Amino acid sequence: MNFNNIIVEKQTNILYITINRPKNLNALNSETISELSQAIDLVNDDKEIRAAILTGAGEKAFVAGADIKEFASFNVAEGKHLAANGQAILFDKIEQSQKPFIACVNGYALGGGCELAMACHIRIASPNALFGLPEVSLGLIPGYGGTQRLVQLVGKGKALQMLMTAEMVKAEEALDLGLVTDVVAFGDLKETAEKLVKKISKNAPLAVAKAIQAVNAFNEDGVDGFKKEIELFGECFDTKDFVEGTTAFIEKRKAEFKGK
Ligand code: CAA
Repeated sequence: MNFNNIIVEKQTNILYITINRPKNLNALNSETISELSQAIDLVNDDKEIRAAILTGAGEKAFVAGADIKEFASFNVAEGKHLAANGQAILFDKIEQSQKPFIACVNGYALGGGCELAMACHIRIASPNALFGLPEVSLGLIPGYGGTQRLVQLVGKGKALQMLMTAEMVKAEEALDLGLVTDVVAFGDLKETAEKLVKKISKNAPLAVAKAIQAVNAFNEDGVDGFKKEIELFGECFDTKDFVEGTTAFIEKRKAEFKGK
């Protein structure tokens, strides 16, 4: 599939997705958001793919936010639609993906860029990464789920500090805050993400998908996460992977999961 703003490449069991607008610091315009949405479908529709690795082209930016030039003249209705549509077709869709998305944050992850990284299941960063939600400096607040996901990751106090000051957080501080799980040299980002995929791929695909679903239930409207966990746990007993995993354990051999 050919895209104008992203590069998508399948290698063995990984789909590499690179946002490719480096002249605009990979800012998310509507076409890029729509293409990323299509790339999520490629990940979930392809049985061979176990995970996606998402990054931004160049060393300067992962994504410097939503494209300010595109929405600068919007009215209230258009602003609401921008946020609702983006959340539905990209940010929530990544979070709810059956397969893990790993963000490799190389440089600025601001506004919608920080929100995009936060929607991913795992975030790793290079030492030059800078995270922030500077929307208030534009007379805005985050619209792609940033106020909600930042609180979950760093706690209310630090989230409010970041949101109200518009200050950026460097990679090492992001690591201390739990905003990222690893900081590695720029050149090692890809390999580090691949090692994570390798570890995840050893495990039962349906169980990995259900783990994502169960964790997401934590903030699903009207859903009791503990009850959801019981339901999903029970469903695992109806999979061939469960039979294989437990049999392999008892027979003291490596499990061969089929995702069934
Ligand atoms: N939207 C559109 N264009 C952007 C952009 C953005 N978010 N961020 C950078 N660019 C463009 C710049 O306009 C510039 O283009 P031109 O050369 O055509 O002028 C190019 O990328 C390079 O940027 P700078 O010259 O500004 O680079 P710099 O090194 O001097 O500064 C920066 C880097 C600090 C990241 C600065 O670009 C910046 O502050 N960007 C905006 C960050 C921001 O406010 N993000 C939040 C956006 S709002 C949002 O995301 C809302 C939401 O939640 C839905």
